[in-house]
Amino acid sequence: MKYFMLLFTALWLVACSGNNGESAENKSFMEAQQPKKTYGKIQHVDIGEGIDGTMSKAGKEIFDMKCNACHKYDERYVGPALGKVTQRRTPEYVMNMILDTETMIENDDTVKCLMQEFLMKMPNQSVDEKDARNVLEHLRDHAKSAQ
Ligand code: HEC
Repeated sequence: MKYFMLLFTALWLVACSGNNGESAENKSFMEAQQPKKTYGKIQHVDIGEGIDGTMSKAGKEIFDMKCNACHKYDERYVGPALGKVTQRRTPEYVMNMILDTETMIENDDTVKCLMQEFLMKMPNQSVDEKDARNVLEHLRDHAKSAQ
């Protein structure tokens, strides 16, 4: 029984380290094969080819007001750095993290791993859908100019 528990714990940790890194290198075969399920109320986000500057600017204001206390662009803080988050996560993931935080925390494996790392639950910031979409545009803008 003891050995079983040890093995189980080891597997659990491995599952996490593969999931929340910046690169896809550690992804298991199964993960690579199956497209990741999208949790939360946003199942599809239309994003344009370029960046909408007006939306990005509006998004920055929301970011400074509601996200900045826990998230910086380039360094880990209370939560993960978000300057390049759109390079490692889908638009749907980012939108649901903002709009449907509880569902993501409960179901998404990547977020569960982040919670182990950051030891807290991101609180829902009561942002409406339009503002959340603007924040996404701002983060896309940031990721693009950071390249
Ligand atoms: C009180 C602190 C706090 C605030 C405010 C906050 N977050 Fe978070 N956020 C976290 C923590 C902590 C995590 C890691 C997951 C967890 O532990 O719940 C996280 C995770 C995330 C993630 C996932 C990052 C990744 O690498 O997958 C995104 C995206 C995100 N937050 C966006 C936002 C946005 C956008 C706002 C503002 C609307 C915001 N957060 C406000 C604490 C916060």
